Amino acid sequence: MSTPFDYADGELGVDGVSLADVASEFGTPLYVYHRPTIGARLATVREAFGGYPTRVCYSVKANSNLRLLKWLDSLEVGFDVVSGGELERAVIAGVAAERVVFAGVGKTNAELERAVASELWMITLESVEEAEAVTRLANALGRSAVPVALRINPDVDALTHPHITTGRGMDKFGLIPSEFADALDRVVNRPEVELVGLHMHLGSQITDMRPYELGLEEVVRCAEQAREMGAPLKWINAGGGFGISYDGEPVPAAADFAAAIAPTIRATGVELVLELGRFLVGPAGCLLTKVLYNKSRPDRRLAIVDGGMTTLLRPALYGAEHRVWPVKEHGGAREPTDVGGPICESTDYLARSRPLPPLGSGALLAVLDAGAYGMSMASHYNSHPCPAEVWITEDGEVELIRRRETIEDLLAIEMEAL
Ligand SMILES: Cc1ncc(COP(=O)(O)O)c(C=O)c1O
Repeated sequence: MSTPFDYADGELGVDGVSLADVASEFGTPLYVYHRPTIGARLATVREAFGGYPTRVCYSVKANSNLRLLKWLDSLEVGFDVVSGGELERAVIAGVAAERVVFAGVGKTNAELERAVASELWMITLESVEEAEAVTRLANALGRSAVPVALRINPDVDALTHPHITTGRGMDKFGLIPSEFADALDRVVNRPEVELVGLHMHLGSQITDMRPYELGLEEVVRCAEQAREMGAPLKWINAGGGFGISYDGEPVPAAADFAAAIAPTIRATGVELVLELGRFLVGPAGCLLTKVLYNKSRPDRRLAIVDGGMTTLLRPALYGAEHRVWPVKEHGGAREPTDVGGPICESTDYLARSRPLPPLGSGALLAVLDAGAYGMSMASHYNSHPCPAEVWITEDGEVELIRRRETIEDLLAIEMEAL
């Protein structure tokens, strides 16, 4: 399954909805999500892991829109949050506490206190000191048997972009082997907490199965050690990370990930948890942006558009390459074209040197596969308000799920101090 967006009669759209019409109604830059694609991708994961007791969680950081969370909650997924803010989003969206797992390498005392008081499914602890802090808080709040998991850093290279690799020994996440025994001492056979899970998350945009196999071997070793000490383990959380295709070329399917992950977990007899972000929502979204100006550069054309690194950070942050398609097909000769944003930074490009037809001023471009880590990474640099978000439902309705920010929204909290 690649992008749901396709051309019909020379115009890009989906399910009979024209993206040009959507842009003219809601303006640009604009995130557009195709909800049936998210549902279909969730179904493929559930089917692929169907032979094994598995709870699929949605990783809120990928796209934290409240309407999206509320809708996913109706599909009975769990939720993976990594901050008090994400926890608040889940709560406001109506998610029950017992469906939330809370990871994150730097939770503050206030965030941990909220997590302990909320009686979440489990709190994933990433350091020995965090384990101590939770025990202290449980005592202070008069709680017992607070369900926790330990995040293992298995020292495995996820073979993805270095900026989204999280399970090598040198990375800041989780517990390395020399810390694990110490962490176990803090959470096993203690009245305040109960070690119910082990967790790993190797990174994002992973397309090679070997890292999962290697990482889980280490997690299973840790599970044996924890059980020998008496931990009542119920869950192994294999994290997220399933990769998607940004260039339209085939990538592993959910079934490939299931074949790499499920057999190892089966041998332990505990249930599997997954926390997927990009795989579920990435291909379902595109960013619509409008050409403001056309310029020429020695060996290429240059289109300046109204969405840039503040709208979609991934190209500037990681050199990520998203497909960029004109919303209206154009027969003119394709030439290498840079797509630059309006921000005063020389890294502010959505794409470099892409074969695009001539783009008149006002032409619309769709940046594909922008449903994950797009809007959730948007910022206000250069005092740009964040874009709006719409989704297209199963009935082909186009609904606004976040209005466009105004400059007044942006300035309001500073005005208080003026
Ligand atoms: C702990 C944790 N779980 C899950 C995810 C989701 O990753 P992905 O969007 O690649 O599935 C992330 C993202 O980096 C994460 O940090």
